[in-house]
Amino acid sequence: ATIACEYKPGLEGIPASQSSISFVDGGKGLLEYRGISITELAHKSNFIETAYLLIWGQLPTKEELAQFEAEIRHHRRIKYRIRDMMKCFPESGHPMDALQASAAALGLFYSRRALDDPQYIRDAVIRLIAKLPTMVAAFKLMRKGNDPIQPRDDLDYATNFLYMLTEEVPDPIAARVFDASMILHAEHTMNASTFSARVTASTLTDPYAVVASAVGTLAGPLHGGANEEVLAMLEEIGTVDNVVPYIEDCIANKKKIMGFGHRVYKVKDPRAKILQELAERLFKQKGYDRYYDIAVEVEKVVEDKLGAKGIYANVDFYSGLVYRKMGIPSDLFTPLFAMSRVAGWLAHWKEQLNENRIFRPTQVYVGNHESEYLPIAER
Ligand code: SDX
Repeated sequence: ATIACEYKPGLEGIPASQSSISFVDGGKGLLEYRGISITELAHKSNFIETAYLLIWGQLPTKEELAQFEAEIRHHRRIKYRIRDMMKCFPESGHPMDALQASAAALGLFYSRRALDDPQYIRDAVIRLIAKLPTMVAAFKLMRKGNDPIQPRDDLDYATNFLYMLTEEVPDPIAARVFDASMILHAEHTMNASTFSARVTASTLTDPYAVVASAVGTLAGPLHGGANEEVLAMLEEIGTVDNVVPYIEDCIANKKKIMGFGHRVYKVKDPRAKILQELAERLFKQKGYDRYYDIAVEVEKVVEDKLGAKGIYANVDFYSGLVYRKMGIPSDLFTPLFAMSRVAGWLAHWKEQLNENRIFRPTQVYVGNHESEYLPIAER
């Protein structure tokens, strides 16, 4: 086979799709969803409206948003069979594995693969956006042996999720901060988990399998799993005075510092800036957090030492501090990322269906040819 272009590991820098969903300028630190800047959306929109924008391509009218939001509220419940399945998961299991298994299990109930039926597509979008939060909250309670909490249709997306998770209705500031964080994590061009989603979508399998693929990819510590690792790092550092020695040790041992660096951004991730503002707003309201002081010091030290290499804080650096202040356990931080990013994955799934071309890259073969089959006695 003729090689169309030079080999790039993991297709680094190679456009794998044409897309109109989001745009990143890594040099300027800009991110746009359907052309609208993330800063505008984080301050003026809400997650459900942003999901609609990403998936259907334009901001909804009042009626369209009301309809979309009402359908999502209506579909928040999960079948008792999925709950029963989750009761069999080991308590020590990671919530991302539980989410991947239960997202795939939705396919047992809903996948008809009628990909040419707009109603089937809309139903899948509604169900996945509506049910992932319920699954995350249910697993958190059930792994401790407690009964999960039914969603409340009188609560909006963020308030309902935090209610199902913490068993109490959160204050409006916490709900607003959480919702803004969901907007910030919803979409980011061709990142690894979105690429997974598109490859899987390109075979025309069902959207539940597409999301299960993407969840598994997001779980890795180099991708969505970094937010959980950041908090572990801040706890390990322990005090502001210990930041410099800790970071110097990482650099000396070529250990990646979690929450920093990015394949595209070579300046501070615009989402990190907004998450830092949200963290400050939350701490003002709920009381300060020593980990915030450590985090600010880490960012300063890393910027001093690695800024020249274009290594700055990314979206995962401050998100954990926001979630921790809301009483969310750190092993649920990546599931929160998935609950949000499912909007982006579904937007790319729909866009890929229009492409209707299976992903099948090539490779550079570096193995042997005409090798002999040796009988086992001679090996
Ligand atoms: C997300 O793609 C997306 O858009 C992802 C995401 C999204 O919204 O979907 O933005 C979400 O995944 C954010 C990233 C979360 N991951 C982490 O915070 C984990 C730590 N970060 C690194 O693993 C790394 O920065 C990556 C994986 C994010 C990017 O890696 P690259 O682009 O492949 O960079 P690289 O590994 O080739 O490193 C280039 C150089 C190396 O130094 P040299 O060997 O050339 O001397 O930069 C160094 C690396 O050692 N480097 C770091 C570093 N990241 C890169 N050094 C220390 N700490 C880091 N975090």
